[in-house]
Amino acid sequence: MKKIEEYVRSIPDFPEPGIIFRDVTSILQDADGFALAVDSMQALLDGVEVDVIAGAESRGFIFGAPIAYNLHKPFVLIRKKGKLPCETIESSYDLEYGSATIEMHKDAVTPGQKVVLVDDLIATGGTIEATARMVEELGGKVVKIITLMELAGLNGRKRLKDYDVASVICYEGK
Ligand code: PRP
Ligand code: MG
Repeated sequence: MKKIEEYVRSIPDFPEPGIIFRDVTSILQDADGFALAVDSMQALLDGVEVDVIAGAESRGFIFGAPIAYNLHKPFVLIRKKGKLPCETIESSYDLEYGSATIEMHKDAVTPGQKVVLVDDLIATGGTIEATARMVEELGGKVVKIITLMELAGLNGRKRLKDYDVASVICYEGK
């Protein structure tokens, strides 16, 4: 059986020189790769009590939804601003140039609920941190953050030091 790392295609100098792009499409295009990725991420939740799974648009949906389905838990969509139809709260985070704003429905998490955040990747940790802030604003407790990949060289862990973070694959660089 192939290891999960072997399904990840790495593209040097994309989107800019010095960055190695870790591509999830090569995992998803392979049925065994996709299953192994979801199963490996879900295994990080062994022993964790969870009420709600939340995932950030768009790649967080790919992995968050099947895990929520498998665990028979609700799945909450964290969306880019302007997409959700009902009352929302929002959270902004810095990008290299400018900033991004994400939103979630106010009724998606209720006070005291145990929430797991799912994404494909932690780079700077900005997306996950902004997501965690919104969940907490609604009174939810972020009990675990799980991702498929983590770029240790961008120090996302430091930014997320107050949380229990686990990833399947950790790359040393950026
Ligand atoms: C990518 C990735 C993570 C985030 C990681 O999403 O899917 O969500 O960046 O970076 P960070 O830790 O520095 O926040 P992107 O915003 O490119 O959008 P996408 O999921 O829609 O592709
Ligand atoms: Mg994303």
